[in-house]
Amino acid sequence: MSEQSDHQRVAEHLLQLYGGDPFAHVYQASNNHREAHGPDCGVYPSEPQKMRLLNTIVRAAGGRRVLEIGCGLGYSALWLADAVSRDGVVETIDRFPEHIDLARRFAVDAGMDGCIQFHAGEAADILPALSGPYDVIHDDGWFGREPPYFERVVALLRPGGLLVMSNWFLLEQAITGEPSMDWSQFAGRDWAKAVTSYAQKLVARPDLHVSFMLSPAWVALAVKAE
Ligand SMILES: C[S@@+](CC[C@H](N)C(=O)[O-])C[C@H]1O[C@@H](n2cnc3c(N)ncnc32)[C@H](O)[C@@H]1O
Repeated sequence: MSEQSDHQRVAEHLLQLYGGDPFAHVYQASNNHREAHGPDCGVYPSEPQKMRLLNTIVRAAGGRRVLEIGCGLGYSALWLADAVSRDGVVETIDRFPEHIDLARRFAVDAGMDGCIQFHAGEAADILPALSGPYDVIHDDGWFGREPPYFERVVALLRPGGLLVMSNWFLLEQAITGEPSMDWSQFAGRDWAKAVTSYAQKLVARPDLHVSFMLSPAWVALAVKAE
């Protein structure tokens, strides 16, 4: 058996401290699904420690309406739904109807289908028909360059709302020039340049205040219950 890295051991310790991952079975199913589905699937669930952090952030933001691009099998949507206030709703989008069907089933099993709405289709096609404003938007669909729906996402976010973008590990790898794998097959040959210019564009926007969290994100946030 391979030795666990320090990072893995500490991550595991934190998870135990939190009392475990309530959606661990969906995390496992997402990884299993990716291996069976094929190369275009793209279901890479966020780490449980990161979803716990996003859950805390949604609580702190008083999130009632949450939008997500990139549902996968619904692992992150369940974590987000667990964080929204009593009458809150999470809407989540995925281009594969198969992902949405599986995600819906997991939500029903968890008794959380009442607070998650599912949209099957391309984000660029679905987003124009949605009406904001959203308190929090989680973009877990973009990869390697500015997504075509970016302006619509900003328009749907309420003033003071929070846009959370996953997958920014690519910026670190663009800066160091040490990609953990050849991303060009998913993100095009110029992915490093494209990721860097997306980061520059985000930071330069006067209507957004952006911070990139280095990984691992050693920050502790706590929300006081009402
Ligand atoms: C990184 S995975 C999302 C993982 C998911 N949030 C979870 O926690 O398991 C990306 C997902 O986004 C979907 N996706 C990527 N780009 C998309 C787009 N432009 N429109 C709709 N779905 C998209 C993929 O089909 C895939 O299921």
